[in-house]
Amino acid sequence: MREYGEQVALLRGESAERRILGGRFGAIVSNFYAIVSRTVKLLTFTTSYFQANVVIPYIIVAPYFFLGRITLGQMTQTAGAFGRVESALTFFIARYQSLASYKATVERLTTFRAAIEEARKIGTKPPCMEHLRHLDRDLVLRDVVLSLPDGREIVYAHKLTIEAGTTTLVSGPSGSGKSTLFRAISGIWPYGSGTIERPADATFMLLPQRPYVPSGTLKTAVAYPSVPDAYNDEAVRESLRLARLSPLASEIDSEDNWPQRLSGGEQQRLAIARVLLEKPDWLFLDEATSALDEELEAEIYRILIEALPKTTIVSIGHRSTLIALHRHRFEMTARRRDLRANSKDRGRDLRQACSQGFQLMSRRSPGRRGGRVLRVPVSETR
Ligand SMILES: Nc1ncnc2c1ncn2[C@@H]1O[C@H](COP(=O)(O)OP(=O)(O)OP(=O)(O)O)[C@@H](O)[C@H]1O
Ligand SMILES: [Mg+2]
Repeated sequence: MREYGEQVALLRGESAERRILGGRFGAIVSNFYAIVSRTVKLLTFTTSYFQANVVIPYIIVAPYFFLGRITLGQMTQTAGAFGRVESALTFFIARYQSLASYKATVERLTTFRAAIEEARKIGTKPPCMEHLRHLDRDLVLRDVVLSLPDGREIVYAHKLTIEAGTTTLVSGPSGSGKSTLFRAISGIWPYGSGTIERPADATFMLLPQRPYVPSGTLKTAVAYPSVPDAYNDEAVRESLRLARLSPLASEIDSEDNWPQRLSGGEQQRLAIARVLLEKPDWLFLDEATSALDEELEAEIYRILIEALPKTTIVSIGHRSTLIALHRHRFEMTARRRDLRANSKDRGRDLRQACSQGFQLMSRRSPGRRGGRVLRVPVSETR
C-alpha cells in the first residue's frame, strides 16, 4: 500500500482499498475475537474447576468430622490426598493451553516442511531443467521447453546459442515468454525441461524492468547486492555520472525512500550504475531501459559497451530502435505449422494467431551487417 499509494490516489481508489483492506484486516480482527472468546470460556472453566476442587474434599468429609467419626487431622489428610490424586488426573485440563499451542506449532512446522518438500520436488522431478557449466564462452540452450506451473508449455528452444561478446536482442509478442526465458537462464524457473549450458566461472547479472531499489543511503542502493563498503565513494559517484545520474552523485550518503523519490527512468539508470560497478561477464536486460527516451537509451547502450568491453549484453525489448543497437536477434514467433507452411494464407493465420492472444512480429533484418536472426518458436497452445 505504501509503495502504490500514488497510483491508488491517482485512480481515486481509496474506498476500494478500504474495502479490500477491511476484508483482509476483518479476518484478523474476527480471529482475534474468536481467540478472546475461547480464552474466556477456557479460563472460566479451568478457574472454577480448580477453585471448586479446593472445597470439594472438605464438603465430602465434613459430615464424618461433625459426627466425630474422623479427626481434624484425618480430614486435612484426606483433603491433601484428594488434591494429589486430583492434580495427577487433571493434567490435561491444567496443560490444555500449552498442549494447544504445541499442536499449533507442530502443525505450522509440518505444513512448512511439506511446502519445502513440494518446492524441492518441482525442481528435481523429471522432466527438469539441467544447468551445466562448460568450458565454452557461449551460452547454449539445448532442447529447452519452458512450461507454466500448470504444465502448459510456452517456449521451445531446440538449439540456441547466444554468442559471447555479441550484443543480442530477444524480441517477440508480449506474454510470449521472453522474461520466462531469462528466468530459466538465471536458474530461477524450475518448470520445463532441457539443458542450459553456461560458461564456467562467468558472472551473470539480470536487470528487470522495475529494479529493486532498497531504502537507506544512495550508496547502499547502488552497491546492492554487495555491501556499501565494497566500493569506494569515488567509484560509486563515477558510476552514477556514467549512468547519467550526475545530480545524485553528491548525495550518495543521503538516506531517503529512494524507490518513492526516483522516477522510473532514474531507477533504471541506478540499476545501470550498479552494473557499471559490478562489471558482470554477462548482462541480461529485461526491458531494463524501457522508461528512457530513445536517445538516452542508445546513449546508455553506448556507455555500457564502452565501459564494459568484456561484458556480453543480451536484451529483451519491444522498441524497433533497439534492433540497431544489437548484432544478433532472436524473435519469438507463433509455433503453428500451418502459419509457416502456407504463406498465401498469412492474413488468415495472423487473425488466428491474434485470436489466440498474441500477434506475429514483422520479420526485420538485424541492425548490423553480419548479424543473424534466429527464431524461438512460441507454443501454439498459447
Ligand atoms: N508464475 C507464473 N504463474 C503462471 N503464469 C505465469 C507465471 N509467470 C509468467 N506466467 C505467464 O507466462 C507467460 C509468459 O510470461 P513472460 O513474463 O515471460 O512474458 P513476456 O514475453 O516477458 O511478456 P512482456 O513482453 O509483456 O514482458 C504469460 O502469459 C504469463 O502470464
Ligand atoms: Mg517480460
